[in-house]
Amino acid sequence: MPAPFAERLLAWFDIHGRHDLPWQHPRDPYRVWLAEVMLQQTQVTTVIPYFERFLKRFPTVQSLAAAPLDDVLAQWAGLGYYARARNLHRCAQAVVDTHDGRFPRDFDAIVQLPGIGRSTAGAILAQAYGERHAILDGNVRRVLARHGAIDGWPGQPKVQAQLWTLSERYLPQKRLADYTQAIMDLGATLCLARAPQCLICPVAADCRARTDGTVARFPGPKPKRARPSREARLLLIRNAQGALLLERRPPVGIWGSLWSPPVLDGAPATDDERLWCQQQGLSPLDAATRALPAVAHAFTHYDLTLHPLELQVHEPGVLHESGRWRWVTIPDSKSLGLPAPIRKLLDRLPPP
Ligand code: ADE
Repeated sequence: MPAPFAERLLAWFDIHGRHDLPWQHPRDPYRVWLAEVMLQQTQVTTVIPYFERFLKRFPTVQSLAAAPLDDVLAQWAGLGYYARARNLHRCAQAVVDTHDGRFPRDFDAIVQLPGIGRSTAGAILAQAYGERHAILDGNVRRVLARHGAIDGWPGQPKVQAQLWTLSERYLPQKRLADYTQAIMDLGATLCLARAPQCLICPVAADCRARTDGTVARFPGPKPKRARPSREARLLLIRNAQGALLLERRPPVGIWGSLWSPPVLDGAPATDDERLWCQQQGLSPLDAATRALPAVAHAFTHYDLTLHPLELQVHEPGVLHESGRWRWVTIPDSKSLGLPAPIRKLLDRLPPP
């Protein structure tokens, strides 16, 4: 049996962990809170100079609370996710106004403060006060999902609940500040997303993913949303000379400003297409509607199935908004800008 998880992790941390991060000296609540908020979406190396400048400008929670928001945002400029800075400012004011300027030590009071969720609250309590609280940031999720071979995407409530259970189960009785830093350091330096250093990992002996040889499978990926699919009809309208009707597409939307046979949303519905022709002043000849094989086209955000329908119309058709329409022979259409899938389809079109 290997030693308890926390014991091995702390022994590793004493030698290999990070001990000179600026928020560790001193580990007071104001500094730890500021660091944790900065570190929510930003890497340690980026945060360090910001953290130091910020503390020079706002050395106490009182000075931060009293500062104009613009000054706080100016110090934050470049760190991104500016809602964090606005919440930080509101949080400082709440600490001054409702907690006598002392950062609360009570979990329920801390999670109520702006910009502080369960993990950040735990990280502050553990590091600033040595209290026994679990954390679950991105690094810790990866460590625990692998160590316990927890299937599924950690964004799912069920998976997240399992990971919180593990995070709490492994907490030591003492050295909570070091332990909290240690598990984050393990995720940031050894249990890497792409090149995990299992050979030198202190908790590899009972890591289930490691023993199963499935480290790369954890944590489970975010499920991809099914791509929506749409259907449309492509009206290949020919006049008596065999010329094809093209429409200049509206400037926005798919194939913006390119020329194309008219596209109608939805699956084929004979009456609908005939009605459309009549509305444009074209009268289709009854016998001459022909359906060609559908073509599939993948857009960035959806799949389109195009149903080409050939219609023969009387000559001459009266088309409104004349600049928008052209009758062209297939060879003449080559000099116009046509979307690639339409070009391909026209090139293969059987003769009328
Ligand atoms: N990410 C969030 N909190 C951190 C911390 N205290 N040290 C390193 N990375 C972190």
